[in-house]
Amino acid sequence: MRLEGKKALVTGGASGIGAAISRRLAAEGAAVVIGDVNEEGAKEVAAEIDAEAALLDVTEPASAVAIAEAHGPFSILVNNAGTDDFAFFTDMTPERWRRLIAINLEGVLICTHAVLPAMQQAGYGRIVNIASEAGRVGSKGSAVYSAAKGGVIAFTKTIARENARFAVTANAIAPGPIETPLLMAAKQLGEIGDKIIETMKGQTQMRRLGQPEEVAAAVAFLASDDASYVTGETVGVSGGLGMV
Ligand code: NAI
Repeated sequence: MRLEGKKALVTGGASGIGAAISRRLAAEGAAVVIGDVNEEGAKEVAAEIDAEAALLDVTEPASAVAIAEAHGPFSILVNNAGTDDFAFFTDMTPERWRRLIAINLEGVLICTHAVLPAMQQAGYGRIVNIASEAGRVGSKGSAVYSAAKGGVIAFTKTIARENARFAVTANAIAPGPIETPLLMAAKQLGEIGDKIIETMKGQTQMRRLGQPEEVAAAVAFLASDDASYVTGETVGVSGGLGMV
């Protein structure tokens, strides 16, 4: 098994893409720790796959440090926790956008900061950040989310540059529209939300939504030794939506 002997932290692993990633990494032999604000949900997924679950709020540095100390050191970090709050930008408020930046961008910084020193010390590490095609091409109703995800992509490249000498790789994944509770929340915009989802589907070449397992397969590759010479990349898992 590709990930035998590796310990992985998956943030936001209680639901959607993070749950699929946790299942896939465990199936490939990794010891998985699922960190989520939804501790009950994390426990449910963990019970299925013989993983550990821990309360983690990625916006709180102390919470990330606590999980690194109690459950680390990790050889794999998947920064997956994220959320959106669909609204056209003129309807956004500073309070709402600060929360989006805190979870989607600062959360990645906070968890990486807590976990990376041990990877440097070990001389081995795999960091996989779940960004979004929104961070490359933008997405109507998600201006702040797109800004945060663009930040994640730039951050990933810099972490890749700074840590290659420690044999630590850092890559991002840019999912397209994936069928999870997060995407379905676009429906909170009403009819326009349905239209946005349909438009996204139409923008893919495959003309369908992706499934969480299709993102998890790419994560497993980037987290494995098969990807030993891959770093600083942004891999689209989007049915051809964001090809450049
Ligand atoms: P989801 O809503 O199903 O799951 C997100 C998970 O993150 C939940 O378990 C939630 O409790 C957790 N979470 C939220 N805030 C947290 C915090 N402060 N600390 C710890 N955990 C927290 O969403 P989904 O779709 O599975 O999203 C996973 C990742 O994929 C996110 O980063 C999202 O931005 C990204 N993504 C999703 C796409 C989609 O179409 N579903 C498209 C592109 C990217």
